[in-house]
Amino acid sequence: MKAIAINGSPRKNWNTAKILLSALDGAKSVGAETELVHLYDLNFKGCVSCFSCMVADGSGMWHCALKDDLQPVLERIMQADAVFVGSPIYVGNVTGETRCFLERLAFMNGTYDGALGPKSENRASAAFFFTMNVREEQAMSDDFDYPRVYEDNFSLLRGIDGTKEYYACYNTWQFDDYSKYMNKIFDIEDKRKWHEEHFPIDLKNAFEIGARLTRLGGAAKSGRA
Ligand SMILES: Cc1cc2nc3c(=O)[nH]c(=O)nc-3n(C[C@H](O)[C@H](O)[C@H](O)COP(=O)(O)O)c2cc1C
Repeated sequence: MKAIAINGSPRKNWNTAKILLSALDGAKSVGAETELVHLYDLNFKGCVSCFSCMVADGSGMWHCALKDDLQPVLERIMQADAVFVGSPIYVGNVTGETRCFLERLAFMNGTYDGALGPKSENRASAAFFFTMNVREEQAMSDDFDYPRVYEDNFSLLRGIDGTKEYYACYNTWQFDDYSKYMNKIFDIEDKRKWHEEHFPIDLKNAFEIGARLTRLGGAAKSGRA
């Protein structure tokens, strides 16, 4: 079994990366080989509208023809048993790099031929992890309405047809030292306490999601489910 995680944060050792590594540890615990890809290490663009994946004879379906660093990653995603995508929320949505990645993944797995539909044999499992500064009650409020953001981005994993779920990690710890940055809005002690109490729970939940979805994806892909 193979599990691949895509880190949509520019930071390689912070919240999103830690959550993804924990999901991969879960995947490893059930016997998977694992890989973590940092999107910000790759030289790539969003979809360039070449329509190679939509040519009339269907020969380009489920592949992206744009030759850059993302292309082989998209191919490995389509081979994996479990796929984990993580992004921080940046100004109310996923990061720009994450969105470019999702554009490519979603479009190559889409079709303008309603009869064909999406590739049905890719029964890998997938999880989307969102990390953010706001607290859950703010995220759920009408002012933010982040569930709309989760659903919108999650729906772009449509090339992956097995069990899929998303997980939101709130009130993340943003800097090593809050005293170095302007701050009139955070209660730092309150935030530290939250982080110490809740981030370990988020990591444990990510581990369990990683293990469960890898087991499910592996079984579905090998025809055992
Ligand atoms: C450019 C930028 C924009 C951000 N915008 C938001 C936002 O709109 N809502 C929010 O809750 N957090 C926002 N944050 C905070 C991050 O989402 C949060 O700290 C996240 O956990 C960072 O992930 P990382 O630690 O993996 O880099 C923003 C951070 C940056 C740098």
